[in-house]
Amino acid sequence: MAGITNFMQGRSKRILVPGGAGYIGSHTCVELINRGYTPVIVDNFVNSSIASVDRIRQITGANDVPVIEADIRDTAEMVRVLREHECEAVIHFAGLKAVGESTAQPLDYYSNNVQGSLSLLEAMKQAGTGHIVFSSSATVYGTPVSLPYTESHPLAPTNPYGMTKYAVELMLNDLVASRAGINAGILRYFNPIGAHPSGLIGEDPNGVPNNLMPFVAQVAVGRRPHLNVFGNDYDTPDGTGVRDYIHVVDLAEAHIAALEKLLASPDSFTVNLGSGIGHSVLDVVKAFEQASGRDIPLEFVDRRPGDLPAYWADPTHAMELLGWQTRLTLEDMCRDQWAWQSGNPNGYPDVKIGAA
Ligand code: NAD
Ligand code: UD1
Repeated sequence: MAGITNFMQGRSKRILVPGGAGYIGSHTCVELINRGYTPVIVDNFVNSSIASVDRIRQITGANDVPVIEADIRDTAEMVRVLREHECEAVIHFAGLKAVGESTAQPLDYYSNNVQGSLSLLEAMKQAGTGHIVFSSSATVYGTPVSLPYTESHPLAPTNPYGMTKYAVELMLNDLVASRAGINAGILRYFNPIGAHPSGLIGEDPNGVPNNLMPFVAQVAVGRRPHLNVFGNDYDTPDGTGVRDYIHVVDLAEAHIAALEKLLASPDSFTVNLGSGIGHSVLDVVKAFEQASGRDIPLEFVDRRPGDLPAYWADPTHAMELLGWQTRLTLEDMCRDQWAWQSGNPNGYPDVKIGAA
């Protein structure tokens, strides 16, 4: 009996990580393992590669990273996995994230992001899992009424993707208020970029990247001829758009802080995850040129419809509540993005599911 008790006490806590093979999920799995947790990855690989899991194992030396190929909308399977692995909490990354695509295919977004989250929460209730960390986005704020955005800024998303994040936040708040035995940490990410310093995991977008950093990195490595800068007539210091970029490793560490806060106390919370510093498109290009030693040819083109001129986070609440703040700079982000991009010019190798 004592042996069993010791075994249970010595065993690391298991955390279900839906979307754990993706960009932010894979970095968070590395940090979980580094802190002694065991991530249990669930992914349908709609936007990721099983090769990322192999790389997680390579970085951490952990051989026992369970991976289940499944869709979070399969509630029965989620209950089964939560029970079988005795997961104590969920860090939920699974969803679709392309703003333009969400406008063209809104039902796919509501199905994956809202129905998927509903299914996961239902499974947690059935399995008796009491803690969830949720990936929300600064996009829930919409057009700034005041800057920096604080968590009490009005919520008014301007596209279907943002609406799905808002909808899940509402669902979580109502669930918490119902005292169903689940507490929630809602994390509103600003602009995650960069990669693990090993250069082994990073963002691997399908097709033409929508976002600035992967596009810049693909220009630097020669996959694209130049960067189109969307607008140079904004009311910003150099006329280009300003954002709050956050290193993905800082972001991953914030998930551990959020998880441990939930495990330690029953309170739920919503926090911004950003640095509080705004950088323009041209700042990013300059920093990337320095990090990579490559020129980034660029052309100024019209503004991208729907883009905001400038926004950044007030990160005070995250610091006060979680004791977390960013520590990595734009230079770090560009250096690590370059290590990933130059080491993996075409992203992850094609690996058949189950082979890694
Ligand atoms: P990603 O696409 O790399 O990762 C998402 C993962 O979820 C992928 O591995 C995908 O295959 C998986 N997935 C999607 N739908 C699924 C489903 N129905 N069932 C099982 N797995 C499913 O994206 P990311 O950048 O790592 O983002 C992670 C989360 O953070 C997403 O919810 C995203 O909306 C949110 N977010 C991302 C950003 C960003 O800029 N990257 C900003 C704010 C919020
Ligand atoms: C986008 C999403 C937002 C999401 C965020 C996460 C849109 C409209 N919004 O925000 O919902 O939360 O990503 O990272 O897609 N830029 C260029 N050329 C490019 C790409 C981008 O000049 O090829 C500029 C943009 O105009 C913007 C800045 O770079 O000023 C950052 O763009 P991007 O990386 O797409 O992020 P967001 O627009 O902030």
